[in-house]
Amino acid sequence: MKITIIVDNYTTKRNFIAEHGFAALIETGQQKILFDTGQGHALLHNLKIKSIDPKNIETIVLSHGHDDHTGGIKPFSKKNNQFEIFAHPAVLYPKYKITKELKKNIGLKTNLSEFNTKFYAGPVEISPKVIYSGEVPKINKWELEETIYYREINGKLEKDPFQDDVSLYIIADKGLVVLTGCAHSGIINIINYGMEITGINKLHGIIGGMHLKNASNKRIKKTVQLIAGMNPKFVTISHCTGILPGMEFVKKIGKRAIFTEVSSEFNF
Ligand SMILES: [Fe+2]
Ligand SMILES: [Fe+2]
Repeated sequence: MKITIIVDNYTTKRNFIAEHGFAALIETGQQKILFDTGQGHALLHNLKIKSIDPKNIETIVLSHGHDDHTGGIKPFSKKNNQFEIFAHPAVLYPKYKITKELKKNIGLKTNLSEFNTKFYAGPVEISPKVIYSGEVPKINKWELEETIYYREINGKLEKDPFQDDVSLYIIADKGLVVLTGCAHSGIINIINYGMEITGINKLHGIIGGMHLKNASNKRIKKTVQLIAGMNPKFVTISHCTGILPGMEFVKKIGKRAIFTEVSSEFNF
């Protein structure tokens, strides 16, 4: 099993394009699955530099409806007309980021009905060792601090409950690898749910955004403590996790905390 980060907020290599967003390619040996698509400026360019033909990717999984994860669908579809999409039905609600200063539409800008989209609210097997989480139960309320994300239902705004925030659980020989987009459900909630539905209690690694950059110190410390206690072999600091939370991981688990960039690869 191989996972390559195709879109991330950072790159140190001048031939790739970095953007605020996330996409990762899972290669199972039989299947190529793209988890998220970034904002849309970087995906095709970075795939090309990595010599990955979009035509060979048969499946796209959307971690949630935000446009920094779904913006690449349109450009991707210009290079491949055979792919299927897996997403939670709640990706379709208009989504906003609302602060004192701004109200910004950050939802899906692509009409998913133009594509072969399969909507699943609950867990489903995408490939024998790749499980789509569906909606993650938000058990730990302390992980749900964020107050700036809203969705619109029948013309009314409500705090986004992130039903559509899905992750992938990859069953590796040495344990569970959790692949997240932004982890709006809370990374501990996501890990615990993965262990529950797969029956695997050993966490091997975490790849993807954890959305801790604006989290309280208390939450960051507790999250890092709990993950360190699970003794994973690697935890990536990617996309929206944030530098300072990343440094907390480094303090706690040393080199097993890995700051990713476009083209980072993980084999397990
Ligand atoms: Fe994001
Ligand atoms: Fe997000």
